[in-house]
Amino acid sequence: MKSILDNRPQLSKQVYEVAEVAGYLWQKGWAERNGGNITINITDEIDDEIRKMPAISDRVEIGKKLPNLKGCYFYCKGTNKRMRDLARNPMDNGSVIRILDDCSSYEIIADNPVKPTSELPSHLSMHNFLIGKGSTYKAALHTHPIDLIAMTHNPEFLAKDKLTYLLWSMIPETRAFCPKGLGIIPYKMPGSIDLAEATIKELEDYDVVMWEKHGVCSVGENIMEAFDMVDTLSKSAQIYLTAKSMGFEPEGTSKEDMDALKIAFNLPK
Ligand code: 13P
Ligand code: ZN
Repeated sequence: MKSILDNRPQLSKQVYEVAEVAGYLWQKGWAERNGGNITINITDEIDDEIRKMPAISDRVEIGKKLPNLKGCYFYCKGTNKRMRDLARNPMDNGSVIRILDDCSSYEIIADNPVKPTSELPSHLSMHNFLIGKGSTYKAALHTHPIDLIAMTHNPEFLAKDKLTYLLWSMIPETRAFCPKGLGIIPYKMPGSIDLAEATIKELEDYDVVMWEKHGVCSVGENIMEAFDMVDTLSKSAQIYLTAKSMGFEPEGTSKEDMDALKIAFNLPK
């Protein structure tokens, strides 16, 4: 069967990088059933032939006007599709959409009419926000990491930057590679516009945000980078939980050492 990826090595590379990350999410136990979703902005890879491709779906309302997305193209995980299936076969478990000129609707153009993720309002809002800010970030990831979600079940951890400092202090890499920390978004209905609005508000200050009792959302230059930040935070959460399960409260890196790290790595916060 003909695919939009045929003879487009750059586009193909990006979609297969999503597939690689989807495999990691499944291996980590973060992607039960259809859990989690990924979108990437592929507009830079779009040629005239793709621009002329007809729609293979009806026009669908996004539920929000996103002015910066006019004429943009995205590869999106399909709703109800499994990460472990996407890992093997990204074009049967996801599709390419085109945002229409009204900036509030889309159509599917390739390869199959796979309906995009139910979290599309949040994903597209994040891409719209990033473009508006002049960011070069192209990837958005939502996933269900066991350890980080468990931590959001403790109301104490929901205070601003409480988890940021706790997770930073478990291992120096976390502060270095997730320098803005972890934003917190109080529980909202999955897939809702409310959740989308709250998410972009937190993106003003963070690249990774927790959706309380649901999952994590991250944005990055590419999908590997978005994954790495969540992976690093999850490693810190595991160190914390391992210490607790050994029966003691982990000491955490001292303020002095943390401040020295901030200077050495030229960190923003
Ligand atoms: P989708 O299958 O619609 O992508 O939903 C998965 C999910 O994690 C919703 O938050
Ligand atoms: Zn989810």
